[in-house]
Amino acid sequence: MTSTPTPIADSNILDARERLIVALDYPTARQALDLVDRLEGTCTWLKVGMELYYAAGNSLVETLRRRGYNVFLDLKLHDIPNTVAGAVRTVTQVGASLLTLHASGGRAMMTAAAAAATAPGSPRLLAVSVLTSMDSEELAGVGVTDTPTAQVLRLSTLAKQCGINGIVCSPQEVDEVREALGAQALLVTPGIRGAGDAVGDQRRIATAGDAIGRGASMLVVGRPITQAAVPAQAASLLLQEIARADKR
Ligand code: C5P
Repeated sequence: MTSTPTPIADSNILDARERLIVALDYPTARQALDLVDRLEGTCTWLKVGMELYYAAGNSLVETLRRRGYNVFLDLKLHDIPNTVAGAVRTVTQVGASLLTLHASGGRAMMTAAAAAATAPGSPRLLAVSVLTSMDSEELAGVGVTDTPTAQVLRLSTLAKQCGINGIVCSPQEVDEVREALGAQALLVTPGIRGAGDAVGDQRRIATAGDAIGRGASMLVVGRPITQAAVPAQAASLLLQEIARADKR
């Protein structure tokens, strides 16, 4: 990394660094790399989503990899099986560690994606269950009258059957997904908000400590870090909260 890492106080915080992913939701590589510098080496995982990837593409992912970061490529693939499998094979060249696809793409799509992700260097695949910005009303609007939790459990179970490595769900249902999928499942939760944070467009939220306490493997945090006056400080506080929750 270009910046000097912040000294790590204890091994719990070191473990916490493996569990916090910062979402680089920016329209340009320059803004994203500026935030990376302002994180001062506190975090090791960075998420590149559609906004940044469509602008900066693979070269930004490669830059982050060269600087020593693990990259979560959040492209939320959702297309016919042949197209998604092809996208997975293309992304394999880039060096991302995690890649998302929508579980609602169905069994054939997820099975094809899992088969395409077996080449050496392939990212681990995460199935996005129900977006954390959706509540029961939003779900009903797209024809799903089950609760968000029931739908998340349905899609998570299907994803596991298809050979997908992990699930993106909200912290509100992560305990039930953990129970259904077992201790080894990789469960990644966005929708992380502290008491004083603006909720924004998120709906199914919880604190970092609660998410970890309920069984999340890794947390995705965007605006509570990127919009903070001192992002490195906001990230450090979250790492401490994660480390404390881990000890329970
Ligand atoms: O700023 P905020 O903390 O809300 O950012 C959350 C990040 O997690 C965003 O980059 C968003 O795209 C992503 N995400 C999400 N809900 C999902 C999957 C991904 O919020 N179900």
